[in-house]
Amino acid sequence: MLTVAPHAGGLRVEAPAKINVGLRVLGKRPDGYHELESLVMAVSLADELQAAATDDGAIALEVVADGADAPADRTNLVWRAAEMLQSRCAAGQGCRITLVKRIPAGRGLGGGSSDAAAALVLLSRLWGLNVTPEALGAMAADLGSDVPFFLRGPLAVMRGRGEVLEPVAGDPPVHVVLVVPGFDCSTREVYSKVKLPLTVRYSGVSLWITHLLRGHVSELGRTLVNDLTPAAEAVCRDITTLCGSLRHAGASCVLMTGSGSAVFALAATESEARSIATAVQLDATSRVHVLKPWPSNTSLGWKGCSHGSDRSKGEAGNGEP
Ligand code: C5P
Repeated sequence: MLTVAPHAGGLRVEAPAKINVGLRVLGKRPDGYHELESLVMAVSLADELQAAATDDGAIALEVVADGADAPADRTNLVWRAAEMLQSRCAAGQGCRITLVKRIPAGRGLGGGSSDAAAALVLLSRLWGLNVTPEALGAMAADLGSDVPFFLRGPLAVMRGRGEVLEPVAGDPPVHVVLVVPGFDCSTREVYSKVKLPLTVRYSGVSLWITHLLRGHVSELGRTLVNDLTPAAEAVCRDITTLCGSLRHAGASCVLMTGSGSAVFALAATESEARSIATAVQLDATSRVHVLKPWPSNTSLGWKGCSHGSDRSKGEAGNGEP
């Protein structure tokens, strides 16, 4: 999924957003995190990371805002990924990184996590490090619960607190109408308001996979669940309104992604997706994107780090309408 390519004396990689097609919260863990089961799919809205190596060991980060913004300092997960790689792999080189930011933060789209995974893959290659997949996966999990997915996507079942991934083969024949509202939702706050089930839940994830890979959107609309929705609605009440707007525009399968605040509709054809995107009534602060699933014919992050041959860039582009 994270395909590294040459760029202006250095390397570049695209870092896609994700949606949680469905998400179940199975319980609370002793470490305070929640035990999840989620079907996660990367989509064709992507940030881009470009990097060149330097000899001084310093990390420099520039953020180019292209529809979204992010801090250009140590609080950015890209910076923390670079520092982690330097310290755990005793890497002496530094880097100049440019992050072209298109995925808005705090919307459940995993943009910061994807950037972090992309930085791990890009800098391992740039610095010529021999990092094992296991070591890279451990660094990803330490950076954040969603980061490991971006090394194993573009379609996977996520379990544990997010670090246990089971990749799913295939390219779902669906299109995604993504509504990104002007407000964000704090992941930590949403999880703090989750009401845990009294009995063990049946997640339904295998049924979701079957329907998704067959493009059965109406069936998905009847079976998909995001257990974080009531908690997110308690934090940002407008999420119910956003979902209602998509349904009113003709969508049969509407859900929130992750801990919100973005919501999406799945459509069986591109023309159906575009007609929902045109009809949906939103306030001036919201943005709508018509996206495709990220193609599975791009190499996984693991391969991106193994000094193997680069494969060419995926065909999805940024999928804007
Ligand atoms: O791992 P990450 O720092 O991205 O998680 C942000 C917050 O989301 C955590 O501090 C925790 O409150 C919550 N979380 C959780 N269970 C998960 C993932 C995240 O409770 N599986």
